[in-house]
Amino acid sequence: MTREHGAFDRGGDADDLVGIGFGPANLALAIAIEEHNQRDPGQALKVGFIEQQERFGWHRGMLLEGATMQVSFLKDLVTMRDPRSRFTFLCYLQERNRLADFINLKSFYPTRLEFHDYLDWCAAEFDARTEYGRRVVEIRPVGENGIVDMVDVVSESVANPADRTVRRARNIVVGTGLKPRLPDGVSAGDRVWHTRDLRFRADELARRKEALRHRRFTVVGAGQSAAEAVDYLHRVFPDAEICAVVTRYGYSPADDSPFANRIFDPDAVDEFYAAPSDAKRTLLDYHANTNYSVVDGDLIHQLYRTVYQEKVDGRERLRLLNASRLIGVEHTADGVRAVVHSITTDRDVLLDSDAVVLATGYSHVDPRDLLGDLAPACRTDDLGRIRVDRDHRVMTEDHIEVGVYLQGGTEHTHGITSSLLSTLAVRSGEICDSLLLRHTGRQLRAEDGRLGAVAE
Ligand code: FDA
Repeated sequence: MTREHGAFDRGGDADDLVGIGFGPANLALAIAIEEHNQRDPGQALKVGFIEQQERFGWHRGMLLEGATMQVSFLKDLVTMRDPRSRFTFLCYLQERNRLADFINLKSFYPTRLEFHDYLDWCAAEFDARTEYGRRVVEIRPVGENGIVDMVDVVSESVANPADRTVRRARNIVVGTGLKPRLPDGVSAGDRVWHTRDLRFRADELARRKEALRHRRFTVVGAGQSAAEAVDYLHRVFPDAEICAVVTRYGYSPADDSPFANRIFDPDAVDEFYAAPSDAKRTLLDYHANTNYSVVDGDLIHQLYRTVYQEKVDGRERLRLLNASRLIGVEHTADGVRAVVHSITTDRDVLLDSDAVVLATGYSHVDPRDLLGDLAPACRTDDLGRIRVDRDHRVMTEDHIEVGVYLQGGTEHTHGITSSLLSTLAVRSGEICDSLLLRHTGRQLRAEDGRLGAVAE
């Protein structure tokens, strides 16, 4: 690493890989590479990661008490690649002295709080290789004679953007996750929250109780985060009404049945990758209800029981506004007004609220936004989407030798698990293998002057 205008020895200072973002995806890769380095120190890869958060964090704003994982603990960061790894969830449990207690729970689904602690436990091993509190803002191609064989990864301190540094890398892996999606014309603020910030915002409001003027929260969305937000606010604000605005007739269950679940298997990635594009589209449509705008069945029943019990009690605090959608928010002197349109009555309902919570999901980020001058050299398909090789490397024009790998943003090529946890363990192994192939090739080229990666 060097200050922005410092000098580099052309290749000597370069990392074999710089990871942009240090969420679960790049953490799983850090582990895969570390385990390779331990096994084969002679071929060790030099890696570093840059993360904009001040410390490791996995969707901290949604670490709601009682919320559970949507995948089995066996889909931790390593087990499906190597169950003997010391980074398994089971090893974590043993180290925390909870292995027997967890077994007695008879559940495959730990709470998100516990899984976060597991991830944090893994991440702590990589503190020395992770620059926290820095945001990657630019990627600059580096090369000679028209060949780009390295990049400079420019990052700035989140606390002090004038503090810029550069890391030179032979490969990069973009693992920056998704970005919150907001309805058109609505922006987040003091009284309009995306679920990403739910816990921070709600806890702050709970502390200043006098701020609750309307005793009402409006939650917009029909997916898992929406249902969790409704449940959470209902518990944390026992005097408030919670209005759930859903476009469907109610919450629909996630299909987590065994055959459908196979869409999340590592083998499904192979099959999906090789399939023609109309088959890909069909599969994504058929199985959208395994992941998108659906809710865990137990939570649906729990919410329904609450609604029913409140009817019995004659005090209905949890209201479902079904077949409805948010058409606007208006800021008022003492809160915010949600304008909700019912598609069945064709009428608007105004909900004066203390806060509107937008559980409206996340969108993919085009990695080209970050790639700067490299972006035009990325190959694209006939829909303008980036083309990605099976080893998760972006296909580029021939003069680009630097490897640009993607973790996420590859649903169109690698399928529905692209932005999920399910295949992180196996995908990390694949990226590590690909890096090694390129690494070996580079060494051979240095020795005998030949071009092209050569596998041993
Ligand atoms: P993730 O978003 O976790 O990490 C990306 C990291 O990059 C972030 O830490 C971010 O700060 C950093 N970053 C971004 N831009 C940067 C830049 N320019 N410079 C430096 N750093 C940058 N999936 C699943 O399979 N099972 C589950 O149970 C759940 N549960 C779940 C709950 C909730 C509340 C949400 C919102 C999502 C899930 N998911 C999930 C899906 C979720 O996307 C997945 O669990 C992981 O977060 C994916 O990990 P990534 O590392 O790809 O992205």
